Amino acid sequence: MSSPILVALDLESAEEAIRLAAQLEPVVGGFKIGLELLMGPGPGTIGALVRLGKPVFVDAKLHDIPNTVRRASRQIGRAGARWLTVHASGGADQLEAASEGLAEGAGGGQAGILAVTVLTSLTDADLAKTGITGTAGKQSARLAKLAAGHGAEGVICSVKELGVIAEVAPALVRVTPGIRPVGVGADDQKRVATPEDAYARGADWLVIGRAITRADDPRVAAEVINESLTGDSVVYARSQLNRED
Ligand code: C5P
Repeated sequence: MSSPILVALDLESAEEAIRLAAQLEPVVGGFKIGLELLMGPGPGTIGALVRLGKPVFVDAKLHDIPNTVRRASRQIGRAGARWLTVHASGGADQLEAASEGLAEGAGGGQAGILAVTVLTSLTDADLAKTGITGTAGKQSARLAKLAAGHGAEGVICSVKELGVIAEVAPALVRVTPGIRPVGVGADDQKRVATPEDAYARGADWLVIGRAITRADDPRVAAEVINESLTGDSVVYARSQLNRED
């Protein structure tokens, strides 16, 4: 089994991120670069990661008018990103502009949009203050459906939402953050799940940051997680999932 781990390289320095990525490359599925590296060292870091030979997920969380999003996505496609995040709440035209722009930039290379539905930092009460009534789960499902119909390849969702998203948008690739192996502290994450639980419930990719990057030996930490996903109960649970693919 190839590793479903996307390591979140949430570090200030590009050199440090690339050194760590090179160390982890043989045992993980790919890398995630977020706003900290994009706003500091800059988007040049994407190319350096791409050259390691694993898919690179650019977590830029774009949200703007379609023309601007198209042009930004094209640049990220040119840099070699495999995935790019866009807020689904930016609407259908923005989602389509993002996937078209990314594909143009990728020039025939494989690349796709991952839609952000409702940030896991928002509660139902926070959403109500923005005028959205109903639960975060319902809103996530609504936005996932919209994303699936307008060019997104996948969706970022919490483990809690995996089931409902599989129901309303079964073709979407499901990428899950907020992962903590047993014994690792939750830090600022509120709704955490173990890698085994996320994978057993149908996540395609697990975004894992600090549980690996802050481990005494990051490579060993990733290997232990990979190993945990091959257990009988996880393999059985996945075989029971009702999947379209
Ligand atoms: O260190 P940790 O494993 O908590 O890192 C999780 C990564 O996933 C971070 O880069 C964070 O920004 C990202 N993320 C998240 N929750 C979301 C979307 C992205 O934790 N809903």
